[in-house]
Amino acid sequence: MPNLPIVTRVRELQARADRERAAGRRIALVPTMGALHAGHLSLVAEARKHADSVWMSIFVNPTQFNDPKDFEGYPVDTARDLALAAEQGVDVVFCPTAEELYPEGAQTWVDVQGLTDCLCGASRPGHFRGVTTVVAKLLLAARPHVAVFGQKDFQQCAVIRRMVSDLGFGVEIVAAPTVREPDGLALSSRNVHLGPEARLQALSLVRALDAAEAAVARGETDRAGLLAKVRAEIDSAPLAALDYAELCDPDTLEPAPPQLAGASLLALAVEFSPDAPGRGGRVRLIDNRVLGPNPSAQ
Ligand code: PAF
Repeated sequence: MPNLPIVTRVRELQARADRERAAGRRIALVPTMGALHAGHLSLVAEARKHADSVWMSIFVNPTQFNDPKDFEGYPVDTARDLALAAEQGVDVVFCPTAEELYPEGAQTWVDVQGLTDCLCGASRPGHFRGVTTVVAKLLLAARPHVAVFGQKDFQQCAVIRRMVSDLGFGVEIVAAPTVREPDGLALSSRNVHLGPEARLQALSLVRALDAAEAAVARGETDRAGLLAKVRAEIDSAPLAALDYAELCDPDTLEPAPPQLAGASLLALAVEFSPDAPGRGGRVRLIDNRVLGPNPSAQ
Protein backbone atom coordinates (compact mmCIF):
# COMPACT_ATOMS: atom_id res chain seq x y z
CA MET A 1 0.00 0.00 0.00
CA PRO A 2 2.43 2.68 -1.04
CA ASN A 3 1.67 6.03 0.61
CA LEU A 4 -1.75 5.17 2.06
CA PRO A 5 -1.74 6.69 5.55
CA ILE A 6 -3.46 4.42 8.08
CA VAL A 7 -4.59 6.24 11.19
CA THR A 8 -5.68 4.36 14.30
CA ARG A 9 -6.12 7.15 16.88
CA VAL A 10 -8.97 9.65 17.05
CA ARG A 11 -6.68 12.51 18.12
CA GLU A 12 -4.37 11.94 15.16
CA LEU A 13 -7.28 11.94 12.71
CA GLN A 14 -8.69 15.14 14.22
CA ALA A 15 -5.29 16.84 13.89
CA ARG A 16 -5.14 15.81 10.22
CA ALA A 17 -8.68 17.08 9.68
CA ASP A 18 -7.76 20.43 11.24
CA ARG A 19 -4.74 20.74 8.92
CA GLU A 20 -6.83 19.92 5.83
CA ARG A 21 -9.55 22.37 6.86
CA ALA A 22 -6.99 25.11 7.61
CA ALA A 23 -5.59 24.59 4.09
CA GLY A 24 -9.11 25.07 2.69
CA ARG A 25 -9.45 21.45 1.59
CA ARG A 26 -12.78 19.62 1.75
CA ILE A 27 -12.89 16.18 3.38
CA ALA A 28 -15.35 13.43 2.47
CA LEU A 29 -15.69 10.41 4.76
CA VAL A 30 -16.85 6.97 3.60
CA PRO A 31 -17.66 4.94 6.74
CA THR A 32 -17.43 1.17 6.19
CA MET A 33 -17.16 -2.04 8.14
CA GLY A 34 -14.61 -3.38 5.64
CA ALA A 35 -15.23 -6.49 3.49
CA LEU A 36 -15.15 -3.98 0.67
CA HIS A 37 -16.97 -4.65 -2.59
CA ALA A 38 -17.82 -2.63 -5.68
CA GLY A 39 -20.64 -0.90 -3.75
CA HIS A 40 -18.13 0.61 -1.31
CA LEU A 41 -15.84 1.60 -4.17
CA SER A 42 -18.74 3.46 -5.79
CA LEU A 43 -19.13 5.40 -2.52
CA VAL A 44 -15.47 6.44 -2.80
CA ALA A 45 -16.05 7.58 -6.39
CA GLU A 46 -19.10 9.56 -5.24
CA ALA A 47 -17.11 11.06 -2.33
CA ARG A 48 -14.44 12.24 -4.77
CA LYS A 49 -17.05 14.46 -6.49
CA HIS A 50 -17.65 16.33 -3.23
CA ALA A 51 -14.20 16.76 -1.70
CA ASP A 52 -10.46 17.21 -2.19
CA SER A 53 -9.54 14.46 0.23
CA VAL A 54 -11.44 11.16 0.55
CA TRP A 55 -11.14 9.30 3.83
CA MET A 56 -12.47 5.85 4.58
CA SER A 57 -13.08 4.31 7.98
CA ILE A 58 -12.89 0.55 8.41
CA PHE A 59 -14.36 -0.61 11.70
CA VAL A 60 -16.62 -3.59 12.40
CA ASN A 61 -18.78 -1.90 14.97
CA PRO A 62 -19.74 -4.39 17.69
CA THR A 63 -22.58 -2.29 19.10
CA GLN A 64 -24.74 -2.49 15.98
CA PHE A 65 -24.94 -6.29 15.91
CA ASN A 66 -27.97 -7.48 17.81
CA ASP A 67 -26.90 -11.09 17.14
CA PRO A 68 -23.43 -11.98 18.51
CA LYS A 69 -23.10 -14.80 15.92
CA ASP A 70 -23.58 -12.25 13.14
CA PHE A 71 -20.74 -10.16 14.61
CA GLU A 72 -18.42 -13.16 14.97
CA GLY A 73 -19.12 -14.29 11.42
CA TYR A 74 -18.73 -10.86 9.83
CA PRO A 75 -16.13 -11.19 7.03
CA VAL A 76 -12.81 -9.47 7.84
CA ASP A 77 -9.88 -9.11 5.41
CA THR A 78 -8.12 -5.88 6.29
CA ALA A 79 -5.11 -6.42 4.00
CA ARG A 80 -7.43 -6.83 1.00
CA ASP A 81 -9.53 -3.83 2.08
CA LEU A 82 -6.46 -1.60 2.38
CA ALA A 83 -5.20 -2.68 -1.05
CA LEU A 84 -8.61 -1.90 -2.59
CA ALA A 85 -8.81 1.46 -0.80
CA ALA A 86 -5.33 2.40 -2.09
CA GLU A 87 -6.23 1.28 -5.62
CA GLN A 88 -9.36 3.43 -5.48
CA GLY A 89 -7.33 6.50 -4.52
CA VAL A 90 -8.52 6.82 -0.91
CA ASP A 91 -6.31 9.43 0.79
CA VAL A 92 -6.50 8.29 4.42
CA VAL A 93 -7.86 5.15 6.09
CA PHE A 94 -9.04 5.27 9.69
CA CYS A 95 -8.82 1.83 11.36
CA PRO A 96 -9.50 2.35 15.07
CA THR A 97 -9.62 -0.42 17.64
CA ALA A 98 -12.82 -1.02 19.62
CA GLU A 99 -11.06 0.43 22.71
CA GLU A 100 -10.25 3.61 20.80
CA LEU A 101 -13.88 4.24 19.83
CA TYR A 102 -15.43 2.84 23.01
CA PRO A 103 -12.98 3.78 25.77
CA GLU A 104 -13.31 1.91 29.03
CA GLY A 105 -16.21 3.26 31.05
CA ALA A 106 -17.97 4.86 28.05
CA GLN A 107 -21.63 5.55 28.90
CA THR A 108 -22.79 7.75 26.04
CA TRP A 109 -25.14 6.62 23.28
CA VAL A 110 -26.77 8.46 20.40
CA ASP A 111 -30.30 7.24 19.86
CA VAL A 112 -32.68 8.49 17.16
CA GLN A 113 -36.28 7.71 18.04
CA GLY A 114 -39.31 7.37 15.77
CA LEU A 115 -37.54 6.65 12.49
CA THR A 116 -35.93 3.62 14.13
CA ASP A 117 -39.19 2.05 15.34
CA CYS A 118 -40.02 0.32 12.05
CA LEU A 119 -38.39 -1.90 9.40
CA CYS A 120 -34.87 -3.00 10.49
CA GLY A 121 -35.28 -1.04 13.73
CA ALA A 122 -38.23 -3.26 14.69
CA SER A 123 -36.53 -6.55 13.80
CA ARG A 124 -33.03 -5.67 15.07
CA PRO A 125 -33.48 -4.03 18.50
CA GLY A 126 -30.54 -1.78 19.37
CA HIS A 127 -29.08 -1.92 15.86
CA PHE A 128 -29.61 1.73 14.99
CA ARG A 129 -28.46 2.94 18.38
CA GLY A 130 -25.15 1.24 17.62
CA VAL A 131 -25.04 2.74 14.12
CA THR A 132 -25.81 6.30 15.18
CA THR A 133 -23.41 6.12 18.12
CA VAL A 134 -20.51 4.93 15.97
CA VAL A 135 -21.29 7.28 13.09
CA ALA A 136 -21.38 10.21 15.53
CA LYS A 137 -17.95 9.15 16.83
CA LEU A 138 -16.59 8.78 13.28
CA LEU A 139 -17.89 12.23 12.28
CA LEU A 140 -16.34 13.77 15.39
CA ALA A 141 -13.04 12.03 14.63
CA ALA A 142 -12.81 12.84 10.91
CA ARG A 143 -14.54 16.24 10.95
CA PRO A 144 -15.62 15.77 7.31
CA HIS A 145 -17.58 18.21 5.18
CA VAL A 146 -19.47 15.33 3.54
CA ALA A 147 -20.16 11.71 4.49
CA VAL A 148 -21.29 9.16 1.90
CA PHE A 149 -23.50 6.13 2.58
CA GLY A 150 -25.18 3.52 0.37
CA GLN A 151 -28.85 3.85 -0.47
CA LYS A 152 -29.26 0.08 -0.04
CA ASP A 153 -29.42 0.90 3.67
CA PHE A 154 -32.25 3.36 3.06
CA GLN A 155 -33.40 3.51 6.68
CA GLN A 156 -29.80 3.94 7.88
CA CYS A 157 -29.42 6.97 5.57
CA ALA A 158 -32.68 8.47 6.89
CA VAL A 159 -31.68 7.89 10.53
CA ILE A 160 -28.20 9.36 10.04
CA ARG A 161 -29.64 12.42 8.25
CA ARG A 162 -31.99 12.95 11.21
CA MET A 163 -29.16 12.60 13.74
CA VAL A 164 -26.88 14.99 11.83
CA SER A 165 -29.67 17.55 11.57
CA ASP A 166 -30.88 17.17 15.19
CA LEU A 167 -27.37 17.46 16.63
CA GLY A 168 -26.15 20.15 14.21
CA PHE A 169 -23.13 18.23 12.95
CA GLY A 170 -22.81 20.52 9.93
CA VAL A 171 -21.98 17.56 7.67
CA GLU A 172 -23.66 16.95 4.32
CA ILE A 173 -25.00 13.39 4.04
CA VAL A 174 -24.91 11.97 0.52
CA ALA A 175 -26.72 8.72 -0.35
CA ALA A 176 -25.27 6.88 -3.35
CA PRO A 177 -27.30 4.47 -5.52
CA THR A 178 -27.26 0.73 -4.82
CA VAL A 179 -24.74 -1.23 -6.88
CA ARG A 180 -25.96 -4.58 -8.20
CA GLU A 181 -24.56 -7.80 -9.63
CA PRO A 182 -25.35 -8.21 -13.37
CA ASP A 183 -28.35 -10.41 -12.39
CA GLY A 184 -29.74 -7.70 -10.08
CA LEU A 185 -28.69 -8.88 -6.61
CA ALA A 186 -27.74 -5.86 -4.50
CA LEU A 187 -24.08 -6.02 -3.43
CA SER A 188 -23.63 -6.77 0.25
CA SER A 189 -20.74 -8.01 2.37
CA ARG A 190 -23.11 -10.78 3.50
CA ASN A 191 -23.51 -12.22 -0.03
CA VAL A 192 -20.30 -14.26 0.43
CA HIS A 193 -22.14 -16.35 3.03
CA LEU A 194 -24.81 -17.49 0.55
CA GLY A 195 -24.38 -21.04 -0.74
CA PRO A 196 -24.99 -21.59 -4.49
CA GLU A 197 -28.70 -22.44 -4.08
CA ALA A 198 -29.37 -19.58 -1.64
CA ARG A 199 -27.49 -17.21 -4.00
CA LEU A 200 -29.90 -18.22 -6.78
CA GLN A 201 -32.92 -17.81 -4.54
CA ALA A 202 -31.66 -14.42 -3.30
CA LEU A 203 -32.83 -13.07 -6.67
CA SER A 204 -36.34 -13.32 -5.24
CA LEU A 205 -35.72 -9.91 -3.61
CA VAL A 206 -35.10 -8.10 -6.87
CA ARG A 207 -37.94 -10.05 -8.54
CA ALA A 208 -40.25 -8.84 -5.75
CA LEU A 209 -39.17 -5.22 -6.27
CA ASP A 210 -39.59 -5.58 -10.04
CA ALA A 211 -43.07 -7.12 -9.65
CA ALA A 212 -44.24 -4.27 -7.43
CA GLU A 213 -42.71 -1.64 -9.68
CA ALA A 214 -44.35 -3.16 -12.77
CA ALA A 215 -47.72 -3.25 -10.98
CA VAL A 216 -47.40 0.42 -9.95
CA ALA A 217 -46.45 1.31 -13.53
CA ARG A 218 -49.71 -0.41 -14.66
CA GLY A 219 -51.62 1.86 -12.29
CA GLU A 220 -52.05 -0.44 -9.28
CA THR A 221 -52.17 1.59 -6.05
CA ASP A 222 -53.60 -0.91 -3.56
CA ARG A 223 -50.98 -1.31 -0.81
CA ALA A 224 -52.19 -4.73 0.33
CA GLY A 225 -52.33 -6.04 -3.24
CA LEU A 226 -48.80 -4.81 -3.97
CA LEU A 227 -47.42 -6.35 -0.79
CA ALA A 228 -49.16 -9.64 -1.65
CA LYS A 229 -47.23 -9.69 -4.97
CA VAL A 230 -44.00 -9.06 -3.08
CA ARG A 231 -44.75 -11.87 -0.60
CA ALA A 232 -45.57 -14.29 -3.42
CA GLU A 233 -42.12 -13.74 -4.97
CA ILE A 234 -40.35 -14.32 -1.66
CA ASP A 235 -42.53 -17.35 -0.87
CA SER A 236 -41.50 -18.88 -4.19
CA ALA A 237 -37.96 -19.25 -2.79
CA PRO A 238 -38.00 -22.23 -0.40
CA LEU A 239 -34.86 -21.11 1.51
CA ALA A 240 -36.24 -17.59 2.05
CA ALA A 241 -38.14 -16.38 5.10
CA LEU A 242 -39.60 -12.89 4.87
CA ASP A 243 -38.68 -10.69 7.81
CA TYR A 244 -40.63 -7.68 6.53
CA ALA A 245 -42.02 -6.15 3.36
CA GLU A 246 -43.37 -2.64 3.88
CA LEU A 247 -44.53 0.25 1.78
CA CYS A 248 -43.85 3.54 3.51
CA ASP A 249 -43.36 7.25 3.12
CA PRO A 250 -39.73 7.71 1.95
CA ASP A 251 -39.19 10.67 4.30
CA THR A 252 -40.96 9.72 7.51
CA LEU A 253 -40.95 5.90 7.02
CA GLU A 254 -44.59 5.95 8.24
CA PRO A 255 -46.73 3.24 6.58
CA ALA A 256 -48.06 4.30 3.17
CA PRO A 257 -51.84 4.86 2.95
CA PRO A 258 -54.01 1.90 1.81
CA GLN A 259 -54.18 3.52 -1.65
CA LEU A 260 -50.71 4.82 -2.55
CA ALA A 261 -50.85 8.50 -3.35
CA GLY A 262 -47.25 9.62 -3.98
CA ALA A 263 -43.76 8.16 -4.03
CA SER A 264 -43.52 5.15 -1.69
CA LEU A 265 -40.55 3.26 -0.39
CA LEU A 266 -40.82 -0.52 -0.79
CA ALA A 267 -38.41 -2.00 1.76
CA LEU A 268 -37.66 -5.70 2.18
CA ALA A 269 -35.67 -7.87 4.56
CA VAL A 270 -35.36 -11.61 3.94
CA GLU A 271 -33.45 -14.34 5.76
CA PHE A 272 -31.98 -17.25 3.83
CA SER A 273 -31.38 -20.64 5.42
CA PRO A 274 -28.18 -22.48 4.60
CA ASP A 275 -28.28 -24.60 1.42
CA ALA A 276 -27.69 -27.74 3.45
CA PRO A 277 -27.74 -28.51 7.19
CA GLY A 278 -24.46 -27.53 8.86
CA ARG A 279 -23.41 -25.24 5.96
CA GLY A 280 -23.08 -21.89 7.70
CA GLY A 281 -25.76 -19.77 9.38
CA ARG A 282 -28.72 -17.79 8.15
CA VAL A 283 -28.03 -14.81 5.90
CA ARG A 284 -30.18 -11.69 6.17
CA LEU A 285 -30.45 -9.53 3.05
CA ILE A 286 -32.20 -6.19 2.58
CA ASP A 287 -33.18 -4.25 -0.52
CA ASN A 288 -35.49 -1.40 -1.41
CA ARG A 289 -36.90 0.70 -4.23
CA VAL A 290 -38.79 3.98 -4.35
CA LEU A 291 -41.97 3.38 -6.36
CA GLY A 292 -44.29 5.89 -7.95
CA PRO A 293 -43.91 9.36 -9.29
CA ASN A 294 -40.38 10.08 -8.14
CA PRO A 295 -38.13 7.08 -8.84
CA SER A 296 -35.09 9.39 -9.22
CA ALA A 297 -35.12 9.61 -5.40
CA GLN A 298 -33.63 6.09 -5.46
O1 PAF B 1 -23.31 0.69 6.64
C1 PAF B 1 -22.34 0.29 7.33
O2 PAF B 1 -21.42 -0.36 6.83
C2 PAF B 1 -22.32 0.59 8.81
O3 PAF B 1 -23.60 0.55 9.36
C3 PAF B 1 -21.62 1.91 9.15
C4 PAF B 1 -22.38 3.10 8.57
C5 PAF B 1 -20.20 1.91 8.60
C6 PAF B 1 -21.56 2.09 10.67
O4 PAF B 1 -20.84 1.07 11.27
